[in-house]
Amino acid sequence: MNFNSDITKEFKDKIKKLKNHNDLYYNQDKPSISDAEYDHLKKELFKLENKYEFLKSLKLLDEIVGSPPTNKFKKIKHLSPMLSLANAFDKKDMYDFDKKIRNFLNFSSKNIEYFSEPKIDGISATLIYKNGILIKGLSRGDGTTGEDILKNLYTIDSIPKKIIDNRLPEILEVRCEIYISKKNFKKIKGNFANPRNAAGGSLRQKDPKETAKIPLQYFAYGFGLIKPMIFKKQSEFLKKISAWGFQINPLAKIVGDIDEIEDHHNKIDQLRSSLDYDIDGIVNKVNDLSLQKRLGSTSNSPRWAIAYKFSAEKAITKIKQIIIQVGRTGAITPVAKVDPVTVGGVVVSNATLHNEDEIIRKDIRIGDTIKIQRAGDVIPQVVSVDFSKREKESKKYLFPKKCLCGAETKKELSKNTKKQDAVRRCVKGYDCKFIAKEKLKHIVSKEAFNIEGLGKKVIEQFWDLNLIKKPADIFQLNYSKIELLEGWGKLSIKNLKKAILKSKLISLEKFIFSIGIRHIGQENAKILASFFVTIKEFAKLFEFKSREKLLDNLKDLDGIGETQIISINNFFTNITNTKITKELIKELDIKNYTTPKLDGKFSNKKLMFTGGFQNISRSEAKAIAENNGGKVLGSISKKLDFLVVGSSKPTKKKIDLAKKLDIQIILEKDWNKILNS
Ligand code: IVH
Repeated sequence: MNFNSDITKEFKDKIKKLKNHNDLYYNQDKPSISDAEYDHLKKELFKLENKYEFLKSLKLLDEIVGSPPTNKFKKIKHLSPMLSLANAFDKKDMYDFDKKIRNFLNFSSKNIEYFSEPKIDGISATLIYKNGILIKGLSRGDGTTGEDILKNLYTIDSIPKKIIDNRLPEILEVRCEIYISKKNFKKIKGNFANPRNAAGGSLRQKDPKETAKIPLQYFAYGFGLIKPMIFKKQSEFLKKISAWGFQINPLAKIVGDIDEIEDHHNKIDQLRSSLDYDIDGIVNKVNDLSLQKRLGSTSNSPRWAIAYKFSAEKAITKIKQIIIQVGRTGAITPVAKVDPVTVGGVVVSNATLHNEDEIIRKDIRIGDTIKIQRAGDVIPQVVSVDFSKREKESKKYLFPKKCLCGAETKKELSKNTKKQDAVRRCVKGYDCKFIAKEKLKHIVSKEAFNIEGLGKKVIEQFWDLNLIKKPADIFQLNYSKIELLEGWGKLSIKNLKKAILKSKLISLEKFIFSIGIRHIGQENAKILASFFVTIKEFAKLFEFKSREKLLDNLKDLDGIGETQIISINNFFTNITNTKITKELIKELDIKNYTTPKLDGKFSNKKLMFTGGFQNISRSEAKAIAENNGGKVLGSISKKLDFLVVGSSKPTKKKIDLAKKLDIQIILEKDWNKILNS
C-alpha cells in the first residue's frame, strides 16, 4: 500500500463516520457524540483535504458538508394563530380582568358566565379535520407557523382519526395540550427534567416509532378554525367533542362570578398534587362564543381568557451576597445570591430584589434568612425576611448609586403619577457596555431579529472576543475567527450565516421594536410602523429639525402618549444611538409596513371617535374599526377621513372642527348601518 492510499483510506473512514453521525443527528434524532466532537471530526477532514490536494478531487467532503441540514419538520402556517394567555395571580387580578371585559362589552351590571378549566402544563398542538378525517397535526411553533407533527400525533391512540356524525363542520380544528402522566414520567425519566420536557421531546422525534414508545396523552381545550361554526358556548363545544371521542378534562366547570371562580380555583389547587398530570393554574374563559368573538384579541393573547395561576412554590434560604444587574433600558436590578435551594423541582441560587425601594421597604440585608418563591418561568423573588434569624451585627444594605460602568444612575419622575420612579437607571445607553450587551441580546431575540444560533450566551462570548460590539457587527462577523473557537465548526457556522442572512429582511415594525427604544414594545412599534410606513420616513426622526414636527404628529396616534414621545426624543437625541441605528439600517432590507387587512369597510381610512355608543364601548368600536382596515387617530386633523359621533355626550368642539375641515361625520346609527351593510 502506498502513502496516498493510506491517506485516502483514513479520509474515507472519517467520511463514513461523519455520514453516520449525520444520520444519527438529522434522521434518527439520536446523536451519539457532542456538537464539539462532531465539529472536531469535520475539522480533521478539512485539514486532511487542505493538506493533500488529491483528496479534494474526490469531492467527498463537499457532498456531505455542502448540503444544509434539512429542517426536521415541514413548516405549515396556522389557519388561525395560536396565541398565549395573559396571567392573573390573585382575586384582584381576576376582578380586574372581569371589569375590563365588562367595560369592553359595555355590560354595566350584567354578569358574565365563565368556563373555568385546569391549565394543563404540557405541549400544545392543533388537530385539523376535514369532513371528519384527521388531515393535519401541527405544533404551536411561533404561534403563526407550526411544524407538521401529524405522524407523531397519529401514534396517540386516544386522538380520533375519524369522526362520524351527520352534523359535522366541514373544517374542525381542535386545540389540545399533550402531556405525559406523572406515573409514566417516573418510568421513562431518561434525560428529561420534568414531564413537560419529556412530552416535548417525544413529540419532536423524527421517527414516529420513537414517539409511539413514550405514552403520550392529551386534553382537548379549544378550537382554531371551525367552518361552518355550529357552537354557541365553550362548554357546549367541549361536551360535543367529548361525544366525538376527544379527551376533555373532567374538572372544568361553568362559573357565574368571581367568587365562584375563586372557589373553583381553590378546590382545584387542593386537588393538584393528587392529579396524575401537571397543571399550573386555571384558565377562565368567557363561555359565550359570540362574546369571545366581539372581545377578539390583542397581538399576543385573547381578551376573553386568562390563566389564573396557582400560588407560587416557596422555600427558605439565606442571602450570601447582593449584586446589581443592568438591563437593556439601563434599569439597575438588585439580585440576591442565595444558598442554593430547590423550589418546585428547580435549584435556585439567584432571586430578584426588584429595585432599591423594595430593598428599603422590606429591609433586606446580606446574611438574612429569607423566604423565596418561584412561579412558572418567572425569576424567583424574595417574599419576606425572617427578622428573628437576623444576626446582631447585620448592617443595612446600601444601594450603589453608580452603574457597573461607573456612571451615575438616576431615578426619573413619572409624568403620569408625578412620583419618583422606584427604579434607578444608567442613562448612558450604548455608551455603557453593560447596557449595550443587553441591547444586543434583545436585538437577536425571538421577537426581534430572531437569529437562531445567536442566543444570549453567544452574544456574551462574541462580545468578550470583540466580535460583536454594536448591532451592525452582527452582519459583519469575522467567521474565520469564529471557526477557530471551541464548539464552532463548518456546519454551525454555515447555519449561523444562513440565519443572519435571513434576518436581514425585516419588517419595519420588528425593526422599530428591535432597536429597543424604552416604552416602545411590540404594540407601540406596530402603531409607529403604521404611521411611518417606510424606513425612509422613520429615519427623519434622526435629524433634530424634522424630528420635532414628526413627534408632534405622533400625538395624533391612538396608543402613543407623552411618555412614548419623550422616550423616542431621548433615544434619538443621543448621538450614539442615532449613529448605531444608521449603521444597522445600512445592513438591512427593511420592508415597508403593510396594513394586515385591507379588505375591510374602512380600508386605509383614518377615523376618530367622540361620544359614547349605546351598546358597545369605545374599545370595542376601536377594535371593530381596526378589524375593518381602519386606523384610529386620537385627535382631529386634515388627515382624518371620518369623525364617528356616538349619541352619548359627543364633544361639540370636535364636531365643529370636523365640519370646518370638511371631514365626513358618521352618526352612531349610520355607523351601525355601514357595518351591517
Ligand atoms: S385556552 C391562548 N385552555 O396554555 C388561546 N389553554 O398559555 C387560548 N393550555 O397555548 C388557550 N391548558 O397550550 C387554554 N385549558 C386550557 C389550557 C391551555 C393548557 C395551554 C395552551 C396554550 C397555553 C397558553
